[in-house]
Amino acid sequence: MCGKPSAEMAERLMDAAMRAADNAYAPYSNFPVGVAVLTGDGTIVTGCNVENASYPLTTCAERVAIGAAVAGGARTIQAVAVYAPRLETVTPCGACRQIINEFKPADDELWMVFHTNAGPELVPFSEILPRAFGPRDLESGQEEKGKRQ
Ligand code: THU
Repeated sequence: MCGKPSAEMAERLMDAAMRAADNAYAPYSNFPVGVAVLTGDGTIVTGCNVENASYPLTTCAERVAIGAAVAGGARTIQAVAVYAPRLETVTPCGACRQIINEFKPADDELWMVFHTNAGPELVPFSEILPRAFGPRDLESGQEEKGKRQ
């Protein structure tokens, strides 16, 4: 299928994530985050964190980007780049790892693109959420349940 993004694509995704971080609405944490996702059809979609005066209503940049990608018709994601200007390398929170997992390609690895001062680092998603629970587990769960009934 799509495979590991090229170094050039990783750069493009990180640039897009960095630009998206400029639009972050983070007046409470002062911790802007930008994300760029590469959809299954090769489109780049961005997001930033959107905080709220009612703090728990904050939406992480990953969820904003993935929501926008899905609204645009995406059903799989090949790569996710994350950038936070206050850290050399930021990685997604646990909840966002689960959200990203939902859109993993069936037959291929999804790739994370992390910022380092030496350039973008490509990390397999399975390294940051090993043994994940996802949509295909529900499919097999239904079959098992059917067999018992
Ligand atoms: N945040 C993200 O948007 N993505 C991450 O990967 C880490 C955390 C946001 C949530 C909140 O607006 C701020 O960063 C501080 O937690």
